[in-house]
Amino acid sequence: MRATLSLLCATWLLVFPGLPAAELQLSTLENFHFKSWMMQHQKEYSTKEYHHRQQIFASNWRKINAHNKGNHTFKMALNQFSDMSFDEIKRKYLWSEPQNCSATKSNYFRGTGPYPTSVDWRKKGNFVSAVKNQGACGSCWTFSTTGALESAVAIASGKMLSLAEQQLVDCAQDFNNHGCQGGLPSQAFEYILYNKGIMGEDTYPYEGKDGHCRFQPQKAIAFVKDIVNITLNDEEAMVEAVALYNPVSFAYEVTEDFMSYKRGIYSSIPAMAALSRACAQLSS
Ligand SMILES: *[C@@H]1O[C@H](CO)[C@@H](O)[C@H](O)[C@H]1NC(C)=O
Ligand SMILES: *[C@@H]1O[C@H](CO)[C@@H](O)[C@H](O)[C@H]1NC(C)=O
Ligand SMILES: *[C@@H]1O[C@H](CO)[C@@H](O)[C@H](O)[C@H]1NC(C)=O
Repeated sequence: MRATLSLLCATWLLVFPGLPAAELQLSTLENFHFKSWMMQHQKEYSTKEYHHRQQIFASNWRKINAHNKGNHTFKMALNQFSDMSFDEIKRKYLWSEPQNCSATKSNYFRGTGPYPTSVDWRKKGNFVSAVKNQGACGSCWTFSTTGALESAVAIASGKMLSLAEQQLVDCAQDFNNHGCQGGLPSQAFEYILYNKGIMGEDTYPYEGKDGHCRFQPQKAIAFVKDIVNITLNDEEAMVEAVALYNPVSFAYEVTEDFMSYKRGIYSSIPAMAALSRACAQLSS
C-alpha cells in the first residue's frame, strides 16, 4: 500500500446560491442544451428556480467551452453538477472544517529517477476499479482508501474486489477519522491493518451516512500488509511509487475548474497554490 493524503469533502447546508453578477442572454443553442440536460438528469424546477438554474447552467456551459478551446491537459464537460455554482458545490460537498492535509509522518524514500513520463494502470489489465459516488457525505477519504486497496489487491492476486467504504465511515474513528465529517486514507489504512481486514461492498453496502460499526471479522476479504506514506508535495515520489508499485491514494484542493472535469490529466495552478496555503496554515 502507498498513501499520502487528505482532502475534499463534505458538510452540506441548503443555502440558495446567489445569481451570477450580470444577467446572461442565452442563445437558442444554450437553451436547447439546458433543456436536454434537464431531461437527461431528470430535473424539474419551479418557474422561479428555472430561470435561476438556467443562468448558472449557461455560465458553466460557457466556462466549459472556453476551457476546451484552450490547450489544457484535461477536458471539461457537463455533468450532474452543471446547474450548481461552485460556491454551492463547496457548501454542499467540500469540507468546511480544518483537516490534516496529509499523513503526519512519511517513510517513502525515492530513488533519483529517471521517472517514466506516463503510466496508466487501466491499460495494463483489470487493475483499476470503476468510479463510485460518495453522495452527500464527507467520505471521499474512504473511497480513496478502497480504490487504492482494490488496485493493490488486483495487482497482487488478479482479483478485482469492491471494498466497503461504509465500514470505514462507521468503524475507523479511533484512527482520527470522522465518518461523514472527513478523515485521511493514511489513517484508514492504519485502521484496516490494525483491524485485520475490510469487508466487501456486498456484505457491508454503502449508505452515505454515519452509522454504528457492523464489522464481522469472518467476512473480511482484503487486508493491509504494509503502509507507506509519501512526503507532502513530493510529486516525483508519487510518480515513482505509481510506476513501481500500484496506484496511490492522494489528495488535492478542489477548485472551480474541477467541478466540470471530464477526462485527461487534471492540473490546476490555483489548486496547488491553495493546497500549499492550507498546509502552511496547518503547520504554523
Ligand atoms: C500545447 O501544450 C503542449 C504541452 O504543454 C505544447 O507542447 C504545445 O506546443 C502546445 N500547443 C499549442 C498550440 O500551444
Ligand atoms: C490531526 O492530527 C492530529 C495529530 O495526529 C490530531 O490530534 C488531530 O485531531 C487531527 N485533526 C483532525 C481534524 O483529524
Ligand atoms: C503514516 O501516516 C499515518 C497517519 O497519517 C500515521 O499514523 C503512520 O504512523 C504513518 N506511518 C509511517 C510509517 O510514518
